[in-house]
Amino acid sequence: MNKFPKEFLIGAATAGQQVEGNNDKCDVWAMEHIEHSTYNDFSGDACDHYHRYEEDLRRAADAGLNAYRFSIEWSRVEPEEGVFDEAEIDHYRRMIRTCRELGLEPMTTLMHFTSPVWLIKKGGWEAESTVADFARYAGHVATELADDLGLVCTINEANMGTQIARLMRRYEMMARLAAQKAAAARAGGEGAGNLDGNVQMGINLQQMMEQQKLQAAEYAQVFGTPDPHVFQSARTAEGDAIVMRAHQAAREAIRAAAPNAKVGLTLSLHDIQWIPGGEAVAAAEWGEEFTHYLPALAGDDFLGVQNYARAIAGPDGDLPVPEGAEVTQAGYEYYPQALEHVLRKVAQGFEGTLYVTENGIATDDDERRREFISSALGGVRRCLADGLPIGGYFYWSLLDNWEWQHGYSKTFGLIAVDRETQKRSVKPSLFFLGGMR
Ligand code: BGC
Repeated sequence: MNKFPKEFLIGAATAGQQVEGNNDKCDVWAMEHIEHSTYNDFSGDACDHYHRYEEDLRRAADAGLNAYRFSIEWSRVEPEEGVFDEAEIDHYRRMIRTCRELGLEPMTTLMHFTSPVWLIKKGGWEAESTVADFARYAGHVATELADDLGLVCTINEANMGTQIARLMRRYEMMARLAAQKAAAARAGGEGAGNLDGNVQMGINLQQMMEQQKLQAAEYAQVFGTPDPHVFQSARTAEGDAIVMRAHQAAREAIRAAAPNAKVGLTLSLHDIQWIPGGEAVAAAEWGEEFTHYLPALAGDDFLGVQNYARAIAGPDGDLPVPEGAEVTQAGYEYYPQALEHVLRKVAQGFEGTLYVTENGIATDDDERRREFISSALGGVRRCLADGLPIGGYFYWSLLDNWEWQHGYSKTFGLIAVDRETQKRSVKPSLFFLGGMR
């Protein structure tokens, strides 16, 4: 099998809240701990990666990986507004340096879904003040870490809130239709169906919508508002623009303090296909998910592409996973071909280097994981042969970790983690991925 070019990055990715443990100053931790939480498990110690990162990185390097993507936790670095914790900056500096010592190119993410509680109290991701707050944090990190920084993603899946808004609208529509049908038949109708698998992150959307009222009072206590605008909230068009302005302001702040850093953001991108009659829906979805961001991304050094699945548009919206299709633990269809399709479409719009910053599968069948990786990377290789500017591939995830609202039930990892003892067991897929270089 042809190897990748020598400088091509093959790595794995993680995110602070999902692996570090005890991020008790962030909004997600607070949401885990309310009585009517929609988080299935507490993140707790997670994978204790905060203390065990060195052994985890060593395993990745020993298996042949040459890159690692991880996030810097804003709520650790700036636990109170304007108050920075230098010990935490030192921690991330040590992580970056350990990566380099082990031959892993570090890629950091400044915001991977979690925000400090104080930011949400100020209006979160719908407040204009977040633009300056995020830029100040990014500028501080860049000033302190300076030349240690290499590839920096400002915001992970900047389009997540827009995708959630779309799914919520669809839930509401389906619930209305089901109610009308039930009323007409004067007997129970069909439920609203479950669309949680249509969003590329572990989320219990239906439960979230049903429990909104119960959560409101608890949120008011924690965040000072019954309707907090966390990053994973349904985003308005104005909020979407704020996220982009926050990215741009952070990009400039990073460049001013660390001119050698390379800056971009990441987007959650489906391979959007359609059946006859679904063309307009598919085009609108791609516009919302990708194309309308292009003006804001002009001037970025790279774009992070995150893909797990395809979506199939029908005339009234996305269709369920095709009958008989193999479905992964996360509820997505097993469809590794999606990555190649997405890369080709993205390359038509974005001018600059692409990194696959996340792609992976939640399964307890590690052979199936290897097949998934092999197929996805085959697509990447074909794109490279056609001259697409792809700089690397990061598998999600290095470790079996805390999959947001789904808790510890989904195993995306190349390394298993015993929940009682934190003992790591390397899966063959880690070596398989390392061997692809
Ligand atoms: C997120 C990860 C998440 C993964 C799998 C991505 O949306 O960036 O945090 O674990 O999908 O659902």
